[in-house]
Amino acid sequence: MWGGRFSKSLDQRALTYTTSLPVDRRLFEWDVLGSIAHARMLARQGVIPPADAQAIVSGLSDLLARPPRLDGEYEDVHSLVEAELARQIGEPAGRLHTARSRNDQVATDMRLFVRSALIEGVAGILDVQSALVEVAQRDGVAIMPGYTHLQRAQPILLGHHLLAYWEMLERDAGRLRDAYARADVLPLGAGALAGSPYPLDREYVARALGFSSVSRNSLDAVADRDFLIEHLAALASLAMHLSRLAEDLVLWSTVEFGFISLDESLTTGSSIMPQKRNPDVAELLRGKTGRVYGALVALLVTLKGLPMSYNRDLQEDKAAYFEAVDLVHDGLALAAAMLRSATWRTERLAAAASDPLISATDLADHLAQRGVPFRQAHEIVGGIVRAAEASGRRLDDFSLDELRAFSPQFEQSAVGLRPADIVAARDVVGGTAPGQVSAQLQFAARRLDESRGWVE
Ligand code: ARG
Repeated sequence: MWGGRFSKSLDQRALTYTTSLPVDRRLFEWDVLGSIAHARMLARQGVIPPADAQAIVSGLSDLLARPPRLDGEYEDVHSLVEAELARQIGEPAGRLHTARSRNDQVATDMRLFVRSALIEGVAGILDVQSALVEVAQRDGVAIMPGYTHLQRAQPILLGHHLLAYWEMLERDAGRLRDAYARADVLPLGAGALAGSPYPLDREYVARALGFSSVSRNSLDAVADRDFLIEHLAALASLAMHLSRLAEDLVLWSTVEFGFISLDESLTTGSSIMPQKRNPDVAELLRGKTGRVYGALVALLVTLKGLPMSYNRDLQEDKAAYFEAVDLVHDGLALAAAMLRSATWRTERLAAAASDPLISATDLADHLAQRGVPFRQAHEIVGGIVRAAEASGRRLDDFSLDELRAFSPQFEQSAVGLRPADIVAARDVVGGTAPGQVSAQLQFAARRLDESRGWVE
């Protein structure tokens, strides 16, 4: 490939150390497609003879149809493709690399890969969001305790809890789409760094590969990988949200919570304790998140000290990036599967929601709505809670007279407050009242339909 200037061949250890083939062979199809567009353009512009271009294009198409073994003594997938093409069609293959460098070629391959991975990621998010909507439609009106500080706080609807994840994932999908817009630029034509002396039609290549525009600055086009950083940053946020969902699934499937039972096919047994059924899939959904963050940090560090423009360090953009994409995409599929196949034990949710003290805020609100300053109402109800705890009683068991002993402002509607009353009272936009949650659910279902259009 570059032997002309050298009298020695590359040290074997150096080749092993520097080759990117084990990693970038994943770009094989994108590399070939990019080359087909490039060869066609070269012929249209009169840079190479049409007959040679034809031979190149048909040879590359054959490679796509019958991929060669993607290993051997090559520096990278680009050299492998060129060598395989030469083996197939002989001399005309030597014209393919006219007006091109591996620097603009690899940047093009990566942008092609990123675009398709971003679409795949959005599709994976849609799948999890659909699963959340399905469960919310089926069991969403079940009442459960809402938590802050992992302490029972106020009753909420299960649908409300599930749709909170829907919203988080919706923003992640938005971040992936935003990243698409900036990845969608063709670098090819930037050459090694300075552009090309041939009369290239870059717009033609962009159209052929589906890019919306061509890069404006050739140095930038070969030097930067911020489009990968954006993708990884979006994946880091997405992985974080999946990890939190996984944590809820782990907690909820304990005997202590008992809110859900994960499907057997997504749990594992213990080699020593015969009774155990462990939520390993959910745990690893949480556990693999660190590797996704690691990929983001690794790439930021790789880039931070590089002088303009291309440096071989950039080759290190791929391994961790590919791994992060795979981890998150596999995680999305498993999250959707766990949600869809789990059994929600709504009677356990209801039992937990009817915590003896869970109506405390609402008693304070009752007083505040009757003219007692909220701080004072809080203090009064604090006293009732203390009395209830001391005597092992429930707040909803207190009679009107008993409540009035703490404040004369109490009225009959403060007696016997049930989780369903408390939930129904929170009828503010975004609140947990059944009407509000059902509006959220309708919005989510409608939005999912719209988003499917983007993926297609
Ligand atoms: N494997 C390299 C990469 O991924 C290919 C790009 C150019 N290589 C080179 N020696 N100029 O960045």
